[in-house]
Amino acid sequence: MKKPKTALLLVSQMRKNCIADEMIIRKFKKEDLKEILEMTEQTWDGFSFDQVLEQKFGRKGKSWWERKADSLKEFIETHPEWVFVAEEEGKIVGYATYSLNREREIGEVLSNAVHPHWRGKGIGGTLHRKVLEELRREGMQAVSLVTSEKHIPAIKMYESAGFKEIWHSTYYAKKL
Ligand SMILES: CC(C)(COP(=O)(O)OP(=O)(O)OC[C@H]1O[C@@H](n2cnc3c(N)ncnc32)[C@H](O)[C@@H]1OP(=O)(O)O)[C@@H](O)C(=O)NCCC(=O)NCCS
Repeated sequence: MKKPKTALLLVSQMRKNCIADEMIIRKFKKEDLKEILEMTEQTWDGFSFDQVLEQKFGRKGKSWWERKADSLKEFIETHPEWVFVAEEEGKIVGYATYSLNREREIGEVLSNAVHPHWRGKGIGGTLHRKVLEELRREGMQAVSLVTSEKHIPAIKMYESAGFKEIWHSTYYAKKL
């Protein structure tokens, strides 16, 4: 299938230990949704607050990753224009979602994820930089995001892109 030139960013990775030689970062297409949702469990395992709740209090109804897939699906179907994907060997290996608040001129980085098999090769960082570039292009003057102190790779990625902590919050829970 011929891909539109303007939507593609061919990235030659020169990083050490990098086997992601020719990664394509591009805007989301409808056909990508299935692949994105299929990797939810593997991709978010260990990085989900709902998973912690499920481990602590047991599962009722849908599993943590089905809930995550539902919320991703809802977001992507509502705002397919706010999603970038990373493609390797014709497969979706990562994605990054974001949003724009045009009135406040603040963008938000939302779900960033790379399939575990493809981590540590520069894909997440490249997707993240693409989102920041797009937010700038859209006229945003600032960008915010929320993460957990347990998400060490994500924290490294954000701090390396220049983000500074401006707020700290703690989630509590107890059995009733
Ligand atoms: C966060 C995530 C998207 C990073 O993707 P990735 O492709 O592995 O990241 P990269 O290889 O591009 O690395 C990006 C930066 O993070 C650092 N990093 C990546 N994995 C790391 C790890 N396990 N420990 C420490 N630093 C790490 C890299 O050194 C790099 O830093 P640099 O730019 O200073 O060189 C990926 O780990 C992931 O999918 N995590 C699970 C979902 C998640 O937590 N998403 C964020 C929610 S807020």
